[in-house]
Amino acid sequence: MSTFANYEDRFGLPLFAKRGITLVKGENAFVWDIEGRRYIDCAAGHGVANVGHGNPFVVKAVEGQAQRLMVVSNAFYNDQRGLLMKKLVEITPQSLNKVFLCNSGTEAVEAALKFARFSTGNSEFVCARRGFHGRTMGALSATFNPKYKRDFEPLVPGFHFATFNDFESVERLVNERTAGILLEVVQGEGGVHIGRADFFAKVQALCREKEILLIIDEVQTGLGRTGRMFASEYFDLQPDILCLAKGLGGGIPIGAVLCSDRVHLKYGKHGTTFGGNPLASAAALATIDYIEQNDLAKKAEQKGKYFARLLNAYHLPLLKELRQIGLMIGIEIKEKAQPFISALQDEGIIVLPAGPKVIRLLPPLTIEYELIDWVVKKVAEVLK
Ligand SMILES: Cc1ncc(COP(=O)(O)O)c(C=O)c1O
Repeated sequence: MSTFANYEDRFGLPLFAKRGITLVKGENAFVWDIEGRRYIDCAAGHGVANVGHGNPFVVKAVEGQAQRLMVVSNAFYNDQRGLLMKKLVEITPQSLNKVFLCNSGTEAVEAALKFARFSTGNSEFVCARRGFHGRTMGALSATFNPKYKRDFEPLVPGFHFATFNDFESVERLVNERTAGILLEVVQGEGGVHIGRADFFAKVQALCREKEILLIIDEVQTGLGRTGRMFASEYFDLQPDILCLAKGLGGGIPIGAVLCSDRVHLKYGKHGTTFGGNPLASAAALATIDYIEQNDLAKKAEQKGKYFARLLNAYHLPLLKELRQIGLMIGIEIKEKAQPFISALQDEGIIVLPAGPKVIRLLPPLTIEYELIDWVVKKVAEVLK
């Protein structure tokens, strides 16, 4: 245990299950611990480092912006914020034409819920079982897993949970008080469950018919992760609200809420001190540019398929189901995942859980093929 680990254990609130090592350096798909041991980071800082750790293009943008100007109140205009808003509207689904910038995924969801309530005059939401949307009170209310919620009740009322990919169960929960339907396209924390085209088409049609808002949470799936810039593109989704965060800033905290014409707001109804600050905006602009210029979404699609092909070739008896879309990979096994996650860490590969029996990999989209070979080999060895 490093001195710093001791400090965190002593002075940090005991909220996180720690994994023993102290990480101090990163470069592309690698991170190093304080003793100099190198790991392949298939967690990418929890699905953040889509463009790799310390991406030189992003670092340069952040360095330059840090020297110029780091903070500007939202009462003033700023070049980087303006450019980012324009870029986000250009690259997200066509229905979306306005942006609110914030600092994290949960804040993006929180804002989305407020915007939907204000725009519709209604207060209820239909969400999905297994869905995850964050830890603040509104986003937590929209999150399914009772384990995260039970000690914090009463939460925000009016959240109902349908079965993911089961349209009838969504339809049954919609009523005259419904403001929106809030869904992930691929449920990440819930175990990497991929949405179906027919389900999303019907949900989208229902939203139009009943004049309720379609709110899509792409905090984890956004920015190339699934093999498209946004997973919504797979189903030609035209959401009314889209939530982004994680990979957007290349490692700098940022969140964004994109809105359609059906979202109406007025001055003063929401706000933020840090949201849209020039430093995070510059980082996000550089990140998006890098993803576009290097065709990272397409590469994620190819690398994800490659990973799945290699892993499936092992015919591992422990494997229950491999769920993969781009470089969002869930390996569901027949036993508890945690011992295997620890064993992989001992082998120099960092992966994530997603529920009790799923090993989740969210490597940087820039990971090299030779590293994928190595990761698959080690996963197969560990699972044997
Ligand atoms: C789909 C989804 N929404 C929201 C969040 C919350 O994001 P944050 O941890 O930045 O608050 C997460 C985090 O894992 C997520 O996966």
